[in-house]
Amino acid sequence: MPETPLLDMQDVHKTLGGKHILQGMTLQVHRGETLVIIGRSGIGKTVTLKHMVGLMRPDRGKVFIEGRDITTLRDRDLDQIRMKFGMLFQNGALLNSLTVGENVAMPLREHERLPEEEVRRLVREKLALVELHDVEDMMPGILSGGMKKRVGLARAIVRNPEFILYDEPTAGLDPIMSNAINELIVNMKNTLGVSSVVVTHDMPSAFRIADRIAMLRKGRIIKVGTPAEFLETDDPVIKQFVYGEEEGPDEPSE
Ligand SMILES: Nc1ncnc2c1ncn2[C@@H]1O[C@H](COP(=O)(O)OP(=O)(O)O)[C@@H](O)[C@H]1O
Ligand SMILES: [Mg+2]
Repeated sequence: MPETPLLDMQDVHKTLGGKHILQGMTLQVHRGETLVIIGRSGIGKTVTLKHMVGLMRPDRGKVFIEGRDITTLRDRDLDQIRMKFGMLFQNGALLNSLTVGENVAMPLREHERLPEEEVRRLVREKLALVELHDVEDMMPGILSGGMKKRVGLARAIVRNPEFILYDEPTAGLDPIMSNAINELIVNMKNTLGVSSVVVTHDMPSAFRIADRIAMLRKGRIIKVGTPAEFLETDDPVIKQFVYGEEEGPDEPSE
């Protein structure tokens, strides 16, 4: 018997704003792997992530986490499942009325009762992992986009989640910082056995971090494979994306 996937999307359909964005999306994430989802801007990558954590519900199809169908769960039960997750949103999604330290501490305060000193220690430790020091008392409004992103990442990992979803973790970062984030993702997998889904349109990052890559196009996954399999492909559509030749934005449906 093959192991139950950590996450299993089965034939998910979703229409948003009159557009059929997901048109039979089927995809599995296995325990311990880093799965990278690639595809053009506006194709439905963020929408896919939202379905994975139950922030959006499919019009049709199912999403299973560890074999459990989350599409019919009540919000309270979903919260229970989400506790295992860390999520880095595309824009960082920091609360501007709280300090950086308070933002990073949020998941800890929501789910655990730890001594204040321990909270501070964990916040400092996670900020150091994303190469931010002495920023705890700053307000997010004064940080650069790249710094906000890293604060969002520190918050996503502050509770040592088993499963992390990253939405464009390196977008808007300079190459040095992108590499640092990529190394962090790789290290969390190698040292902590974390499973991850990473959405990106940064191909060098995808090749650096992925165990498997899934390409989204026209509402479906058109190919899943190892980085080597993507490099060897003869499919002109995939080649064009992988080798970075630009064309206009893709329409999600014909
Ligand atoms: N809540 C929403 N209401 C209406 N349209 C939406 C909503 N969320 C996303 N969309 C549309 O769905 C498409 C896919 O969006 P998204 O998943 O954010 O793309 P990306 O692949 O760039 O992450 C876009 O055309 C976007 O405008
Ligand atoms: Mg997106």
